[in-house]
Amino acid sequence: MKISIQKIILTGDRPTGPLHLGHYVGSLKARVELQNKYDTYVIIADLQALTDNADNPEKIRKNVFEISLDYLSVGIDPKVSTIFIQSLIPELAELTMYFLNLVTLSRLERNPTVKDEMKQKGFGGNVPAGFLMYPVSQAADIAAFKADLVPVGGDQLPMIEQTVEIVRKFNKTFKPVLVEPKALVSKTSRLPGIDGKAKMGKSLGNAIYLSDSSDIVAKKVMAMYTDPKHIHVENPGRVENNVVFTFLDAFDPDKKTVEKLKKQYQKGGLGDVAIKKRLIEVLENFLAPIRKKRAEFAKNPKAVIKILEEGTKKARTITSQTLAEVRKAMKLDYF
Ligand code: TRP
Repeated sequence: MKISIQKIILTGDRPTGPLHLGHYVGSLKARVELQNKYDTYVIIADLQALTDNADNPEKIRKNVFEISLDYLSVGIDPKVSTIFIQSLIPELAELTMYFLNLVTLSRLERNPTVKDEMKQKGFGGNVPAGFLMYPVSQAADIAAFKADLVPVGGDQLPMIEQTVEIVRKFNKTFKPVLVEPKALVSKTSRLPGIDGKAKMGKSLGNAIYLSDSSDIVAKKVMAMYTDPKHIHVENPGRVENNVVFTFLDAFDPDKKTVEKLKKQYQKGGLGDVAIKKRLIEVLENFLAPIRKKRAEFAKNPKAVIKILEEGTKKARTITSQTLAEVRKAMKLDYF
């Protein structure tokens, strides 16, 4: 028997579009930092993405590749982290089916993130059943790997909560074979959109993507929300809810200078263009190496596909083992 001494991380994203700076601050950064300390598995959740994109499989397929490039370019290292494709692991679908008996319809309808998404997507009375139950599928993703830790953005907390409930119920009803996971949410509160809205989001059209060119980044920064009352350079300005300063806080390595600039801005005498120029430079320093790495991997799609293939194969050895235990616990090990 293989005894795992390292704790396990399972985390990932839906491949519905490219990843942005909000994803970086919210979870990618933690994944890169923790990958050498934990046995890390990164799920590209294509099945989950299909729960509200059933009519657009081409989009999901394309983004499986794009998101892999995002992962590799920020430094998720396939030598230590296992990146895999959800739909190629049938055990995850199987475990979802078992878990569905351990959760009620009213509990599914109470999940706050799902509720928000349903509103945002305007399903009205036509919520796809698969969409409503995707937290159960996510619980299966996490439980199949016996993950201890799940580094995710704050909006995913209700999913981990629901996973813990399901795992507890499973262990109590059958046998204690599954592990209760913990969420790891980044200390930096979530990054706002360039428009000043609380959340940066693909569907909100206010994101800076990891794959954006220098020109686009510069344009987006120049259009950033600052302090609408700060009209003349000599006016005092607000740094709270000023997106440029929030981004400087998140990405500028020179914290001392940022503090100095904040004071100057609050006093008056520092223009928006000046702080935006600084941010453009800071983001350029951060994104240039990521862009370069991305371009290298993009030139070699075969190597990327091989990484996914090997990752998926390795992931499956873990889930097969867990599912054998699950079936035994549920008295489904007939032969
Ligand atoms: N729900 C996550 C997202 O919206 C994706 C996801 C699917 C996930 N399964 C997971 C995240 C398991 C962490 C753990 O991007």
